[in-house]
Amino acid sequence: VKKITTNTLQKMKAAGEKISMLTAYDFSFAKIFDDAGVDVLLVGDSASNVMAGHETTLPITLDQMIYHAQSVIRGVNRSLVVVDLPFGSYQSNPSIALASAIRIMKETGAHAVKLEGGIEIVDCIKSIVSAGIPVMGHLGLTPQSIYKFGTYNVRAKEAAEAQKLRTDAQLIEQAGCFAIVLEKIPATLAKEVSENLSVPTIGIGAGGDCDGQVLVMHDMLGINTEFKPRFLRQYLNLNEQITSAVQQYITDVKARDFPNSEESY
Ligand code: KIV
Ligand code: NA
Repeated sequence: VKKITTNTLQKMKAAGEKISMLTAYDFSFAKIFDDAGVDVLLVGDSASNVMAGHETTLPITLDQMIYHAQSVIRGVNRSLVVVDLPFGSYQSNPSIALASAIRIMKETGAHAVKLEGGIEIVDCIKSIVSAGIPVMGHLGLTPQSIYKFGTYNVRAKEAAEAQKLRTDAQLIEQAGCFAIVLEKIPATLAKEVSENLSVPTIGIGAGGDCDGQVLVMHDMLGINTEFKPRFLRQYLNLNEQITSAVQQYITDVKARDFPNSEESY
């Protein structure tokens, strides 16, 4: 198989071919998604929410991210695997950021890291890129800053914040980011930023004019049913399907239907 690289994504943008990205946190799902042909797998710090059950992404640790990334990598042949640097593992200074990124690359075999923020972390991005590690940026509704924002509402609706986002996108592209996630911002702003960057943008709640799209696997598969923002398209209702499968199993056990003689030794 021809592996997806950061260069592949660059070529896809140039050719106008949209990039598909999905989160994954474990071996089994990563293998299914890779076989299905998704271009980029993100080991997101959304693992803090969907795997560990925390309310925010803040509590997940670098060690926990590494465990998820190691599991994902074992299931992947073709996809580009990007791993989130978790809250607290990069913001303090560029050398701490680099040390965290190096741990991810060395201990997991992943292909790139992702960091949230613009000008505040541009030196961290430069330091990681200088070491030869590809960096994906992330602007807009950056969930590690949820206590600064106070809500999960759309970001950059006001002129000042929109202008900062435009400047941040240029800055982190110049710092060497190979792609930038744009989360929950107006579609018109995302379109403009996508056109003005030479690297691809990957949108989530950022309209149809980004160079690619990303969703959290639990949301798009309908495992999570409480989380229903407007931007989410739910492709399955796995919660319903799993519930009825499990209820059938319980019924079969209680009724002494399972296991039958053919299922016994
Ligand atoms: O952690 C995550 O799932 C993400 C995506 C939503 C972009 O950062
Ligand atoms: Na994330």
